[in-house]
Amino acid sequence: MLIRRPDDIPSSEITGESLYQNRRAFIGTAGTLALGSVLAPAALSALSATGRGGAQKDDITPEKDATTYNNFYEFGTGKDEPAENAKDFKTKPWTVAVDGMVKNPRTWALEDLLGKLTVYDRTYRMRCVEAWSMVIPWQGVQLKDIINRLEPLPSAKYILFHTLHDPRRMPGQRSGVLPWPYKEGLRMDEANHPLAILATGMYGKSLPNQNGAPLRLVVPWKYGFKGIKSIVKISFVDRQPLTTWADANSAEYGFYANVNPAVDHPRWSQAKERRIGEFLKRNTLPFNGYSEQVASLYAGMDLRKFY
Ligand code: MTE
Repeated sequence: MLIRRPDDIPSSEITGESLYQNRRAFIGTAGTLALGSVLAPAALSALSATGRGGAQKDDITPEKDATTYNNFYEFGTGKDEPAENAKDFKTKPWTVAVDGMVKNPRTWALEDLLGKLTVYDRTYRMRCVEAWSMVIPWQGVQLKDIINRLEPLPSAKYILFHTLHDPRRMPGQRSGVLPWPYKEGLRMDEANHPLAILATGMYGKSLPNQNGAPLRLVVPWKYGFKGIKSIVKISFVDRQPLTTWADANSAEYGFYANVNPAVDHPRWSQAKERRIGEFLKRNTLPFNGYSEQVASLYAGMDLRKFY
């Protein structure tokens, strides 16, 4: 199993999966995600009981929904197709090539890339550009810890991730629905924000194939399409890279993709969202409710232009 627990969480505090499914999660807007520190499930329940900070309560999405209602076009464009078509996808062994503006370009075995880094429990609201949302308990390493390990050069201004490109193993790549391989990127300061993680698990288990095993990006203040799955390559570059959805349709999908209820998608409103499992729509929050933590990254930028 790829998930390793940080040494400093006693096993008595590791919550079992049934608790993940039943517990109400407290997902704050006021720094309650304990930036830079380990947020043990026990800490989550404690925050939930006090309910401080004026933040809203969110139910964790049932695991069944999070693992059967997916976007992963490499395994089909239907929401139920990835779970079915990725069933036999092999993710061991797995390597990640690192190139570009970095001290030592090389290919890492996934175990070495992650080796000894702290694995955090992070329950995040996730908002898809298609105006639905979920609340997912992730396990993963902070992207900034990986970046430190890789030692990019000062000239590196952006990080670019690539999904595996292998139409024999990813049947959706036999169609031209997207330009393959899937690529996503972040500015270096975004990538170094402690909320950004590379997930290796969810609901206390190894990441299911349909959710991007064995390694996927999770950036909770951005639309879901930034969360690139099954990463095999990381490049450090000095120019804003062309990312898959911007390449496919730049009028509809920008590089930044920050959740922004004030900027509609050209074909639908982004003001509200349907939380999977709920009937009434919720208002979408700027930066998906993480403004307090991340808005300063975009100070002075026209977010209508940089969408
Ligand atoms: N990554 C790859 N490689 N291919 C994809 O099609 N879809 C994106 C993102 N990452 C996608 C991807 C989109 S549009 C969303 S909303 C999220 O994955 C969905 O993640 P989930 O299925 O775990 O909820």
